[in-house]
Amino acid sequence: MTVIEQAVPLPRRKARRPQGSLAYVLRRLSQKGKLGKVFVERLTEPVHLNILSLFVALFGSYRMKVAFDLIVRQQYAFPILFAADEARKNGYKKVTIVELGVASGAGLLTMCRIAERTTKATGIEFRIVGFDGGKGMPPAVDYRDLPELFQEGDFPMIDFAGLKRALPANAELIIGDVAQTAPAFASSLSADAPLGFVAVDVDYYSAAKAALPILTGAPEAYLPVVPVYLDDIAEYGSNDWTGELLAVNEFNAENALRKIAPFNLLRSRRIFKNTQWIDRMFAANIHDHPHRSPAHKRASQWVLGNEYL
Ligand SMILES: C[S@@+](CC[C@H](N)C(=O)[O-])C[C@H]1O[C@@H](n2cnc3c(N)ncnc32)[C@H](O)[C@@H]1O
Repeated sequence: MTVIEQAVPLPRRKARRPQGSLAYVLRRLSQKGKLGKVFVERLTEPVHLNILSLFVALFGSYRMKVAFDLIVRQQYAFPILFAADEARKNGYKKVTIVELGVASGAGLLTMCRIAERTTKATGIEFRIVGFDGGKGMPPAVDYRDLPELFQEGDFPMIDFAGLKRALPANAELIIGDVAQTAPAFASSLSADAPLGFVAVDVDYYSAAKAALPILTGAPEAYLPVVPVYLDDIAEYGSNDWTGELLAVNEFNAENALRKIAPFNLLRSRRIFKNTQWIDRMFAANIHDHPHRSPAHKRASQWVLGNEYL
């Protein structure tokens, strides 16, 4: 989450196409704290990898750019590409991806642009859905909502009509309290476009707790493993007893066959190890997914060769 302190309402501006231009990247870098973050995350990595990055930035494929953390909002680019690859592997043509907590919509529009690029790279289509109350943060319930950080009225949606106009045809906004909209959405999901990525950015414990039932629909309405990005677990004061992590712990305790766990071995699989998004990336395991049953058979058996024979 990028916090920009400002008075609302803001003057209406024409929606700008996110990403894809140097101007956009420079605009993001000029945001508070962004340059320092890039400095810490990138310049602490080996020089040869940073030099290689320049070539990938100029000549690389989209997949290579994701691998080299060169896409803005890498925390969306990686899981969306992962979802597309998993969808292909499991025989799906279309995947649903959601952002829980939209505010003014910069994240949602970036998600749309990343989905478009992922479709070009993989052939998998996306349905993109943003969830928000529309009026900014509701009142905090208690200390578990980290009221020392977030408060009522923060992050309102400053231009609902403008955001709706800027969304592509495969994206939609669902306005309302996630306590109602997320479970209702879960029951509307189907194997035609299973849920493949959830970005949780509702900040509070109480809102994350209310939103996570989006992962409790019919098992076939999900990919077998659904990346879950927890945006706010890096805040000081966030821990297993507060914020989004507490909501995840309670979700796991309440759902025998759905478990949200850290994304396996992600750091060791990434070229650049120091980016913060790696620690915020989790995965919802749909243990009752039909493809995770012994009854589900692959087309062929795996055979291990033996180089000693
Ligand atoms: C930090 S902002 C989201 C920022 C956005 N993801 C981005 O990257 O630009 C958090 C949002 O969560 C929304 N929110 C918090 N609690 C909610 C609830 N119970 N129901 C619906 N939306 C909620 C707020 O309206 C707020 O806009």
